[in-house]
Amino acid sequence: MPTHHIIAIDGPAASGKSSVARALAQRLGFSYVNSGAMYRAVTWHVLQRGLNVHEPAAVATATEQSRIVCDLVDNQSRMLIDDHDPTPHLREDDVNRAVSLVSSVPRVREILVAHMRGYGKKENVVMEGRDIGSVVFPETPFKFYIDASPEVRVRRRLAEGQRDEIAARDRADSSRVASPLVIAPDAAVIDTSALTIDGVVDQIMQRLVAKGLPVHSQTATPGGQRMNPYYWLGYTLSRLLAQSFFRFRIMHRERMIQSGPLILAMNHQSFFDPPLAGNASNRAIFFLARKTLLDHWFWGWLLPKLNVIPVDQEGSDRSALKALIRILRAGEATLVFPEGARTLDGNLQPAQPGLGLVIAKTLAPVVPMRIFGAHEAWARGSKKIRLHPITIVVGHPIFFTQADIAERGKDVYQRLSERVMNEIAKLTIDGNG
Ligand code: DC
Repeated sequence: MPTHHIIAIDGPAASGKSSVARALAQRLGFSYVNSGAMYRAVTWHVLQRGLNVHEPAAVATATEQSRIVCDLVDNQSRMLIDDHDPTPHLREDDVNRAVSLVSSVPRVREILVAHMRGYGKKENVVMEGRDIGSVVFPETPFKFYIDASPEVRVRRRLAEGQRDEIAARDRADSSRVASPLVIAPDAAVIDTSALTIDGVVDQIMQRLVAKGLPVHSQTATPGGQRMNPYYWLGYTLSRLLAQSFFRFRIMHRERMIQSGPLILAMNHQSFFDPPLAGNASNRAIFFLARKTLLDHWFWGWLLPKLNVIPVDQEGSDRSALKALIRILRAGEATLVFPEGARTLDGNLQPAQPGLGLVIAKTLAPVVPMRIFGAHEAWARGSKKIRLHPITIVVGHPIFFTQADIAERGKDVYQRLSERVMNEIAKLTIDGNG
């Protein structure tokens, strides 16, 4: 019997269950476990060993002989297999193709289900998969089945830049003998075709509360300031202009967290960055700017309406850090440049500790973002603007825990900032990372 709360999120491929499960875990302050990633990890391992995935006996033996270690890192599941971290390989084409076969081997399921139940013994978890409510934790009262129309699911995978034979995988996952994809009789079914991630999470939260789950999330603060007309106009105009002149696009906007305290952390290339970064979120976010910028009568009138907060100096200045902490404690979102200043040569620069300090004080989640092309469009110090394409890629949210800030001090802050900067560095212009 699990000793903690388990929220089971099942559903077919590309139904949106991963995004929903992650966002839900963050709202509840639970850990997030992706069971599909565990089957993918074993699949990668079997392929690495050059085994034939069509031979269940060989797959079963390889799984039995491998050393599988499951733990939680940053509130998320991570699995090591024979001391390797397969995370970078989980979405490779050959893994996509073979995972249904590997996950249909009963012995593989038996071994991995035991590890999944292990998570339930350690922590409160949101676990996503195909059979979490029906087989892994049939006794949990909190079961959801997330679905979306096949057209919407194919579109979502394509938008992720992935080739994935969804229809074939659905067929294989639903028809296999061992734990087929079924809807647990007591699961609430939610169709996400026409809903946003936050909309789905809201629905789930309501049902969880109705079912008696004690919800006291530290990120439940509504915050989420709505746009005033000035902000809306600035937001819309900057997008339209950037789209026409710089072929501006934002990749993986669906990864954005749309409620509660949030730090948008982006590399800094040009003066275009703040309004363009603001377009990655549906809500009015807050920006810091040097006081002197507001000295002019026009800017002094307009910028506060665009949520620009004046500080003595940008970067790691004390007044800036205090302003950021105040914004986040109010449940709002803010843009931070971890490098502190615009790049001179277009390359990423080292992270400053200021961001880490703000994380340590607020435990706010961070959405890493990387901007490409803004340096080419308007280099620091240059008077010329060139019509170079600009792209922003949004990364997966990073969640921090008390364990991350058990110690305080400049080194810890520096490491937290570096962690964010590393995630930014992993993002590539084609939307990977
Ligand atoms: O969620 P996903 O697409 O990453 O899952 C990959 C495969 O793993 C999926 O095709 C079926 C299998 N799977 C499973 O059999 N049982 C689970 N609980 C999760 C995934």
